[in-house]
Amino acid sequence: MSESITVHRHRTAMVRYALSQPMSLLVRHGLISQATTVFDYGCGQGDDMRALEAQGISAKGWDPHFAPDRALAAAEVVNLGFVLNVIEDDAERRHALKRAWQLTEKVLAVAVMVVGQVAVDGLRPYRDGYLTSRGTFQKYFQHAELRAFIGSVTGAEPVSVTTGIYFVFRRAEDEQEFLLDRGRGGDRVAINIQPRERRSTTTVRIEFAERIPTAIAEIAQIAVHRGRLPAQEELTQVARDELANVRVSLPRAVECCRRTILTDEMLEKASAQRREDLLVHNALCLLNRSRSFQNPGPAIIRDVRALFGNQRMLSDQAAKYLFALSDLEALHKLNLGAASKKIGVLDEKERLVIAGARVSDLPGPLRCYFGCATYLSGEPDRAFIARFDPRRRLLKIFSVEDERAASPAISSTTVVDLRRQKVFTNPESLRLLRKIDVFGGPDTPSRRKRERALQRQLGQSEQQIFASIVSNHDSAHRLQTPQQR
Ligand SMILES: C[S@@+](CC[C@H](N)C(=O)[O-])C[C@H]1O[C@@H](n2cnc3c(N)ncnc32)[C@H](O)[C@@H]1O
Repeated sequence: MSESITVHRHRTAMVRYALSQPMSLLVRHGLISQATTVFDYGCGQGDDMRALEAQGISAKGWDPHFAPDRALAAAEVVNLGFVLNVIEDDAERRHALKRAWQLTEKVLAVAVMVVGQVAVDGLRPYRDGYLTSRGTFQKYFQHAELRAFIGSVTGAEPVSVTTGIYFVFRRAEDEQEFLLDRGRGGDRVAINIQPRERRSTTTVRIEFAERIPTAIAEIAQIAVHRGRLPAQEELTQVARDELANVRVSLPRAVECCRRTILTDEMLEKASAQRREDLLVHNALCLLNRSRSFQNPGPAIIRDVRALFGNQRMLSDQAAKYLFALSDLEALHKLNLGAASKKIGVLDEKERLVIAGARVSDLPGPLRCYFGCATYLSGEPDRAFIARFDPRRRLLKIFSVEDERAASPAISSTTVVDLRRQKVFTNPESLRLLRKIDVFGGPDTPSRRKRERALQRQLGQSEQQIFASIVSNHDSAHRLQTPQQR
């Protein structure tokens, strides 16, 4: 007779003192804001909900154990956070995902535990996962396995956000905006909202600008973000009302903005950046066969028209990035070029080592290379250092505690093998990345002494030597173990 096993799923729910990872990613990517409605499906003890509500965001939730009597409600954003991995029955997993998707109006976040995140030694295998000593079940998904699972249940194409987390969008245009925005690494052009001149010749215009401050600020923000001037309907209602009240047309407001805040140079820089972002985005959508790519929203269509003329011109140029991806030597040369521009540095095998924050500064084909790899692995959700090895078709990602520390401790490593389309993750190796400072000169004897001491303390024998990717931050950062932080 087979042994009967009771799985206590609710025991997996923990008390949270900060937003869960999927919720904080939704906030960080601007998908949850003050006006958003949120539903937390499988909300556990409800801490995410309470934290959002405390910020004035309308958040509801349901849980079979902790909140069984709450009503299921449709919402723009639905979270299914770490629920699928605690369910031992495949049909029930599908049911939970299906119901969460039915409630989703705009975007569903699905988060699970993934293979390699936690050591499973000593756990008892059960079905497609493990039983823990607390009587709970855990399935550790492969990142790509979760993509296939979500796709098969929702019929939609999930977007990989970070390892073990996908977003699923209802509308193609929302997905396209998300994909395009996420790769860009922030606006490169800083806007100074203060009028730039106060000379007497412009005084009249400045006074005029002061009567339409919201419209002027929005025009500048959209121009810097999208690399082009906005259409009327892209301004908020507040800005449109402001213009209507003083009877100013959009072209006149734009002219005023360009004379007071937005210089030609700023707009040119923003346009160049947006052009590059669109090229990388276009190439990656083609490579990853993004379905939503065929249905961009009106804002992206305007970007393409303003910056390329038409979609055809954009696709022709993006195709060049795709060709470059198959030319390993060309990629290697781009690696060398990026190092010479000090975006990253080369290690002893001429692999490019780069801080995560600088990936968006790389030339287009290398950004595409990174995009292909992270399509398979998910993008790292914390500070990371990436090592590009195009000649071997590898990308290695070191998740670190602090990428700017002199010797950051690595919390996990992920190797993406693009040739075999495989991802390997190693948890919590406490190795140190020892960095030689290219900008601040060679490392000092005292730093090496501290490193050796830390190495002894951690009981590590292996130390990888990398060239440094940051300027002289080492003196500002005390060497600390992760436990000390
Ligand atoms: C690891 S907790 C996650 C809770 C919460 N989402 C969070 O991130 O803090 C898993 C939760 O899933 C709930 N759960 C179990 N089976 C479920 C099902 N079929 N549908 C929805 N939730 C379920 C459990 O009661 C538990 O509270």
